Amino acid sequence: ARGTFIKLALRRAQAISVIDAALILDIEADTIKAASITLGAVAPTIIHAVEAEQYLTGKPLTDDVFEEAARITMNAAKPIDDVRGSAAYRREMVRVCTQRGLKAIRDGHEQNGMPSEPILLWGKESTNGTRPASEQFPAAAIQTTINGKKYSFTSGHNKTLLRLLREDANLIGTKEGCAEGECGACTVFLDGKAVMACLVPAPRAHGAEIVTVEGLATDGELHAVQETFIEHGAVQCGYCTPGFLMSSAMLLEEKSNPTRNEIEQAITGNLCRCTGYYKIVQAIEDAGNRIQET
Ligand code: FES
Ligand code: FES
Repeated sequence: ARGTFIKLALRRAQAISVIDAALILDIEADTIKAASITLGAVAPTIIHAVEAEQYLTGKPLTDDVFEEAARITMNAAKPIDDVRGSAAYRREMVRVCTQRGLKAIRDGHEQNGMPSEPILLWGKESTNGTRPASEQFPAAAIQTTINGKKYSFTSGHNKTLLRLLREDANLIGTKEGCAEGECGACTVFLDGKAVMACLVPAPRAHGAEIVTVEGLATDGELHAVQETFIEHGAVQCGYCTPGFLMSSAMLLEEKSNPTRNEIEQAITGNLCRCTGYYKIVQAIEDAGNRIQET
């Protein structure tokens, strides 16, 4: 089986989808043996376009079949109107993206434009391991470690991790830019992965190791990215800087000698409204060189 994932959004990373679709076709001798079509951002939860999947099964790989499957898929979408797009636009985009994706799979182009080794900001030892929900969401105090120090929070269960850090742990280095996963200003490390604290429920911190920008320097020594951001003038108002520093530091943990393209991938989820990106990219490149030399 081969598949593709299409996301329609302002940016590829982090920015919330206007719509997204995951398409998988199991093809045998020019006939579709099985199909899976999953849609995001068009219903309260991710949904399968079951009727379209059934329609495709046993069909040939023709343009007409894909056109009809895309039309059926569009009817499965029940999107809302919001600032990112109207419901009508979203439905139409589901149709267009589904048709495009199915053709790309048939024609063998489904991986075009995708990096073969994407930067995940999951550090060196990335795992998909998750702890049981009972451990993650405690009824009692949230016991956690932040920047190597133990904390116990008896309130804040209904907050985001970002608010817990700023309001309860009094660690205000982590910033709130958008509070909805678009800007990356709230990036912290959670169990060795970069996450957006504004999208993480505070109880997820229970039993976890968290690092914020306040914990990036060790023993009074700035992290290499902190040094090079200063030297390159990669900071103006500084509001986005904690997020950029955390993404950059995690990139350099994942790949100590990243290419320019990998640096750009790593910071696609971070927005800066005043410095621009050249100095930031140069600072990260320089930090990588510095780490290589030590
Ligand atoms: S991504 Fe903007 S505040 Fe979290
Ligand atoms: S330095 Fe101002 S938003 Fe980036």
